[in-house]
Amino acid sequence: MSATHQLDERARSGFRQAFGYPPVAVAVAPGRMNIVGEHTDYNEGWVLPAAIDRHVAVALRLRRDSHLALRSDRYQTAAELDGLPPRRQGNWTDYLVGVAREIDKQHGVGPGFDVFVASDLPVGSGLSSSGALEVASALAMLAARGIEISLLEIARLCQTAENAFVGARTGIMDQFTALKARAGNAILLDCRSMDEEQVPLPDGRFAWLLADSRVRHELAGSAYNQRRAECEAAATALGLTSLRDATEADLERITSPTERKRARHVVTENARVLQAADALRRRAPRGLGPILYASHESLRLDFAVSCRELDLLVELAAGTPQAIGARMMGGGFGGCVLLLLEAIGIDDVEQHLAEGYAQEFHKTPEFYRVRSVDGAMSERTR
Ligand code: GLA
Repeated sequence: MSATHQLDERARSGFRQAFGYPPVAVAVAPGRMNIVGEHTDYNEGWVLPAAIDRHVAVALRLRRDSHLALRSDRYQTAAELDGLPPRRQGNWTDYLVGVAREIDKQHGVGPGFDVFVASDLPVGSGLSSSGALEVASALAMLAARGIEISLLEIARLCQTAENAFVGARTGIMDQFTALKARAGNAILLDCRSMDEEQVPLPDGRFAWLLADSRVRHELAGSAYNQRRAECEAAATALGLTSLRDATEADLERITSPTERKRARHVVTENARVLQAADALRRRAPRGLGPILYASHESLRLDFAVSCRELDLLVELAAGTPQAIGARMMGGGFGGCVLLLLEAIGIDDVEQHLAEGYAQEFHKTPEFYRVRSVDGAMSERTR
């Protein structure tokens, strides 16, 4: 049984146990890794993500009243709500409620619902558990209500829910990837035109490893939104609508040293995404090594979203002969380091990282050996 199918079953049986009747719609959405292109999506730049074999499944049934009953085998708090709350509660239910509110806004007010969420996607590790939860929720709600819209519209709807209701001014990368990914490929996405190209990932001689620092970030917290505001200020200082159009030559015209550094990250990171896509197209995965390390340095020094734990994991990776490249991944301030390595060396690399990390931080990282998978699926049972 595939991992997706197992999780789908878990959501169905969890639902049946919680509510005593079967769900009407079930949707499963994957988390993501991002090969390179961090903090570029909301600057209308490029990203190069792929979906990974860790998922969130949402089983749902519409009610006759406006009540909401939310349960999960992953998230602690269950919730009973008398209609959609107007403000966020500060927990996982916000993603579901935010999506439901957005669907109501765009397609007319719908009834309440019962929901069960199953997940094998770690939360707070920078693997986009929130994006996957939003996408799975949206697909299940839309299917249950019989509403048909394009995948791009669903991605935007989920992003709007996160921006407007949850309060994190995130870009579109996570939701887009959860919906449009194809196994064996990364998506080269132009976040301005929304043009996408599927680019082949390296073959089985190479592996992707995520080393979770187990430092947890608070994405909705101020730092992410602050970075975004700094990027917008830098673009304004250059008379541009977004940093997408900035060049390295422009940077010296930005007078604020902080804004100049943020802009330098975005400009150089965009160039790295295009280089990385090219290396993948040429089937030259070793070419990714220097790009990944350079991205980490840029995120550490110019964008200032790394932390000591992530830096150490990257340093340890660089000290092994089997690692081809490594960098912090996602929003930052904790979460995972992404490594590309020779598949044959994966045990040795894990051991080296675990020992070095334990020596300094007295805890071990968690490792996820990930594969790329297809994007989300949904099913309406009746
Ligand atoms: C989070 C956001 C994305 C993106 C990354 C950083 O995952 O949800 O939109 O901005 O951070 O690249």
